[in-house]
Amino acid sequence: MSTITCLVNNTVHFASPCWGEHGLSLLVESAAGGRVLFDTGASGDLLLRNADLLEVDLGRLDAVALSHGHYDHTGGLEALMTRAPAGTPLHANPDVFRERVYQHGDEVRDLGFRLPHAAVTAHFDVRLAAEPTRIAPGIWTSGVIADRPYFQGTSDSLHARADDGGLEPDRFRDDLSLVVELPGGGLALVCGCCHAGLLNTLAHVKAYFGRPIEVVLGGTHLVSTDETSLQLAVDQLRDRYGSPRLHPNHCTGERAYVALAAAFGERVQPLNAGQRLSLE
Ligand SMILES: [Fe+2]
Ligand SMILES: [Fe+2]
Repeated sequence: MSTITCLVNNTVHFASPCWGEHGLSLLVESAAGGRVLFDTGASGDLLLRNADLLEVDLGRLDAVALSHGHYDHTGGLEALMTRAPAGTPLHANPDVFRERVYQHGDEVRDLGFRLPHAAVTAHFDVRLAAEPTRIAPGIWTSGVIADRPYFQGTSDSLHARADDGGLEPDRFRDDLSLVVELPGGGLALVCGCCHAGLLNTLAHVKAYFGRPIEVVLGGTHLVSTDETSLQLAVDQLRDRYGSPRLHPNHCTGERAYVALAAAFGERVQPLNAGQRLSLE
């Protein structure tokens, strides 16, 4: 059995003493014995506190993987260094350390790593790859989502530092998801923020891995999706992907969650901080 433990999320399971924040961190454990921390939340305080409450040992990881460079997924790295031994492998896309900012009118805010690049590489064994990579038994990165014919999780306010030193709209080349091999031969798609777009990510994983995607969970970035695109997502999940189990959280948004629940009923379930999910 594979399990997903939600350590950090925007919302908290009603029966849990865990705390919530805008961010995501998931412990991914595969049936084959792989153990990967996917993202670290925003503050670090919550990651450690919630891990303690859930009796998750962050000192015993095969690897850490980062979905992208935003602070709400990478901000807990410094706290994680107090638990994960030096030399723990850390996987991400080669573009992950690019400077990211929120810019709206006169307001400019740093959205990227809270640590210098050098501090991350001084502690972790940083392994950057654009290709899908097996990072632990039964656990892969998606690699870069290069083809993006469908809607993406982008925004007019989200920018990245361009190679010429100016700011450009963030294309989220660094965005990746995890793929977990399930015992029955299917896959679970574990999304971080899915800025590359949920349908683009699904198509990429289906084409590369060639196995049915039975579960989709994590941040789907449907929060800013218009009605037409949301309907397209529902139609494709049903018609092209056979109505996988859905556990959307983080940047999914309530409107999208309701639309998915209306379409797929009990195949949609929350994944809040403090919850542990078993995948057969
Ligand atoms: Fe993000
Ligand atoms: Fe996010």
